[in-house]
Amino acid sequence: MIQLEPDAQEFHQAPRGNRSPATCRWKCGDACAQPVHNQSENAYVRDVIEEALTRRGFLSASAAGLFVLSGLGSLAGARASGGIGFKAIELSTEDRLVLAEGYSSGVVIRWGDPIGRGARRFDLANWSARDQEAAFGYNCDYISYLPLPYGSSRSSRALLWANHEYTNPELMFPGYTPGKPTEEQVGVELAAHGGSVVEVIRNADGSVEYLPVSAFNRRITALTPMELTGPAAGHPWLQTKADPSGRRVLGMLNNCAGGTTPWGTVLTAEENFNQYFAFNDGVSNETIKKMHARYGLPAKESGRRWEAFYDRFDLTKEPNEPFRYGWIVEIDPYDPTMTPKKRTALGRFKHEGAETSLAADGRVVAYMGDDERFDYMYKFVSKGRFNPSDRAANLSLLDEGTLYVARLNPDGTGEWLPLVFGNGPLTAANGFASQAEVLINTRGAADLLGATKMDRPEDFERNPVTGLVYAVMTNNSRRTAAQVDRANPRPDNKDGHIIEIMEEGNDAGATRFRWALFLVCGDPKDPSTFFAGFDKGKVSPIATPDNITFDRAGNMWVATDGMDGSNLKAHDAIYAVPTQGPERGYVRQFLSAPKGAEVCGPVFTPDNRTLFAGIQHPGEGGTIEKPVSLWPDGAGVARPSVVAIRKSDGGVIGG
Ligand code: FEO
Ligand code: CA
Ligand code: CA
Repeated sequence: MIQLEPDAQEFHQAPRGNRSPATCRWKCGDACAQPVHNQSENAYVRDVIEEALTRRGFLSASAAGLFVLSGLGSLAGARASGGIGFKAIELSTEDRLVLAEGYSSGVVIRWGDPIGRGARRFDLANWSARDQEAAFGYNCDYISYLPLPYGSSRSSRALLWANHEYTNPELMFPGYTPGKPTEEQVGVELAAHGGSVVEVIRNADGSVEYLPVSAFNRRITALTPMELTGPAAGHPWLQTKADPSGRRVLGMLNNCAGGTTPWGTVLTAEENFNQYFAFNDGVSNETIKKMHARYGLPAKESGRRWEAFYDRFDLTKEPNEPFRYGWIVEIDPYDPTMTPKKRTALGRFKHEGAETSLAADGRVVAYMGDDERFDYMYKFVSKGRFNPSDRAANLSLLDEGTLYVARLNPDGTGEWLPLVFGNGPLTAANGFASQAEVLINTRGAADLLGATKMDRPEDFERNPVTGLVYAVMTNNSRRTAAQVDRANPRPDNKDGHIIEIMEEGNDAGATRFRWALFLVCGDPKDPSTFFAGFDKGKVSPIATPDNITFDRAGNMWVATDGMDGSNLKAHDAIYAVPTQGPERGYVRQFLSAPKGAEVCGPVFTPDNRTLFAGIQHPGEGGTIEKPVSLWPDGAGVARPSVVAIRKSDGGVIGG
């Protein structure tokens, strides 16, 4: 039974818990301490519920206060679960990587490891932007594993992609002074953002090594030339003094999660791009200033102070520059010369990720969350169809199609609302003169359509075994008792939840769906928790779910972000949970991260014998001078790293 007790004393205090302030400052620009950016008046589902109660009284349909997808029971039970195959570990606050018994791990690559020709060995005391450009970047997030050559299923060679979401300067530069970076430090930070492509070799025992020199190795940074493509490219709002064409942009910012397309490219998602810009108060065009405010751009100086050295981060000098960030970027790791493409057809918001699936007719569908309290869930459906024998044609599929935003109705149904110029209120009278403007100001357009305000939508992806889609809500400490709804059922939601969606006809291209709560996270002793109906006496405590992936049996693996600030007050972790069969909802903890770290980007190799994960910002909360962790090396400085996890006997992980 969901309890709706408000915690009025606490919900205005943010950030809260014992979460490291450094996380909030550098990751999202202290988003929790900012006002709620979505001031639209579109209904919370609660309002719709109350209206419906008066008219139809259908709430009584669910005595437990929770929906279960009718019809799902038979679908979920149709296949035997592949089994999880390990004994759960306990929550941990140890400063080490803890794994379930029978598993081992090794670091594949860490911040500063050389990946370019002529790169120097990592040297904390003497590290330049040029060194960083030839080395693995900071804070590895989304990971993609792409066999070499393209299309191979048994090769021991592969390309590993990693996003570099953000930087922690206090853990990168000895003697760093917050608010007063040097130009040299800012140069290193720009070069440590972006992403990396590295060639890796998988050994017979499942361990993985990277090749410091490979023709495929590549760094993408916050300075790499990129192209804006699709319906918004060239729009006047995308034009700047440095780029009158509105089509050429330098770099990508705050790339968090992502996706891997069926044609072997990586989609990397620009998330909290707002925090890199400064002085929205000084923007003279009121329309532009208002749009920037909806995206949370700082009124005054930025936390990072990059604007002190780069005019493009100063809104009084380049008010349009932020419109060139907040996109999904497509990168082809198989082509080291490819210019990364910012695909404007997929909309502009704080993109968490973009995992793809195929509609029944072969169109490509990308599911996407906008990670902000009270923001929305989206999907893009391409106009063209995936052609497995024409990779070149697939490379432009994401430039044309329809972007939708989700409305979740209180009766367990939902609709995908098309963000199309001319649809309902999306007209010039409401500030949208073209499809380009709908895409650049996606949040404003979604507000007008009455999308459902969610508790920070993070990873959003389809289970390749069952076809059901899962949307992960990390948390929302600002939701009040008056704002709870069936899809976001708790006020002061510190522990997060996961929603399960069945598209109509189990077709990713559908425009209607049904939804239900899959997990309502927290301590299982907390009566507000729910684990798909599984016995709460057996499950592991879990909170702040963020990234998910699926093993080949369709079990969900969940990585968390911010458990130290949840009700559980433990280190971030990975969990496995069956989504079907008799153990559906049986959550078990598999991994616990070192101190200060978040776990990101879990992904399996196709044979399920290796699981990669990004261990992001170990030691956050400390400084170089006062470290709280020296993971993984036990000396020097903590270094964000990608780890490869394997079963010690070389067997299949999980199912
Ligand atoms: Fe970068 Fe939404 O996590
Ligand atoms: Ca994330
Ligand atoms: Ca994922």
